[in-house]
Amino acid sequence: MPSPSRSVFADVSWKRLLWYVAGALVLLAGAVLVARALRGVAAVQDFIETYPGHSDVPEGTPVGLPAWLGWQHFFNAFFLVMIVRTGLLVRSKQRPPAFWTRDNTRFPRTAGTPRRLGISVWLHLTVDALWVLNGVVYVVLLFATGQWLRIVPTDWSVVPNSISVVLQYLSLEWPVENSWVSYNDAQVLAYFAVVFIASPVAIVTGLRLSPVWPMQGRWSRLPSERVARAVHYPTMLFFLLFTFVHVVLVLTTGMLRNLNHMYAARDADDWIGFVVFAGSVVVLVAGWFLARPLVLVPLAERFGTVRRMPQPPSPTREPASHGRS
Ligand code: HEM
Ligand code: HEM
Repeated sequence: MPSPSRSVFADVSWKRLLWYVAGALVLLAGAVLVARALRGVAAVQDFIETYPGHSDVPEGTPVGLPAWLGWQHFFNAFFLVMIVRTGLLVRSKQRPPAFWTRDNTRFPRTAGTPRRLGISVWLHLTVDALWVLNGVVYVVLLFATGQWLRIVPTDWSVVPNSISVVLQYLSLEWPVENSWVSYNDAQVLAYFAVVFIASPVAIVTGLRLSPVWPMQGRWSRLPSERVARAVHYPTMLFFLLFTFVHVVLVLTTGMLRNLNHMYAARDADDWIGFVVFAGSVVVLVAGWFLARPLVLVPLAERFGTVRRMPQPPSPTREPASHGRS
């Protein structure tokens, strides 16, 4: 059982996490100083003038964010909160409070005997399925509506333009933007990476670690379980880093307008988007607490057999007999 000083990242203590955060802040402050110095250099000024941070969007690119996109974006965040929570529970290697075995008398029946899963892994996989479904609907709608043109780079100038945007942000002299019409190129690259690279990597490595991956045949060893595990976890760290920078920038570069775009499908700077966003945060927090294995036992029981494990008394919590078990 991990000691109480362990942070939510199972193998990192709170103290070490604080050191990481402090180190990151020092690095960031250094990067700001370097960027500010660079902006005084004539060649860098020329570079920013040539590549102001935006490629021209192709003709026919839709303007604005439709309501469906706001819903997809919300559900994505909601499921990800639960996925991260259950992923970290799995990683903490605590003895699961219950185990779940699929009921093989019902659809989808398989020849092999179902494997017994820890309840956290079951929940991780269940939410993964919902997240993937949401993602598939999003990608289909992106391509059906032409909305993909806003987040898929179509020109190599996206690379120097992104460098220019990062330099401008770091030097704290931010570019003027109109993200209702198009994102800046650093946004395009980041959104593309999350949707079309990190998500598929999480899915493939996750499936490799899951019971659905074939045990025999050509694909049984590719990629190896070790590689899949070594990639799956850093992919989560990438998601967390992306989300952190993304949300900080959303809140610091015209918060009300940005939130109206994504949470109210409108281009305005009143408080409506903010209010919807605040409501969505309450739901996300609820998702984090809902993703507790024992809260979801009744749901798990509808799809298979659940065996609860007796809980050892924990020094930091009430004895199990008073708890939820
Ligand atoms: C379809 C998508 C996904 C599938 C099928 C999947 C499946 C799995 C499986 C089977 C495990 C291993 C459980 C075990 O050790 O028994 C796992 C672990 C984990 N997953 Fe996922 N996952 C997916 C997406 C994600 C995403 C998007 C994240 C985070 C953003 C994530 C975070 C984690 C973490 C942190 C662990 C623990 C890794 C460790 O022990 O080192 N997963 N996942
Ligand atoms: C709850 C915190 C979040 C907030 C407040 C937020 C806010 C926003 C806003 C305002 C935009 C539009 C940007 C603009 O108009 O300039 C946006 C776009 C986007 N966000 Fe988030 N976001 C959050 C979480 C996430 C997460 C967790 C992910 C994925 C891991 C994500 C992925 C994206 C993507 C891919 C886009 C572009 C979507 C498109 O146009 O197709 N966001 N977000």
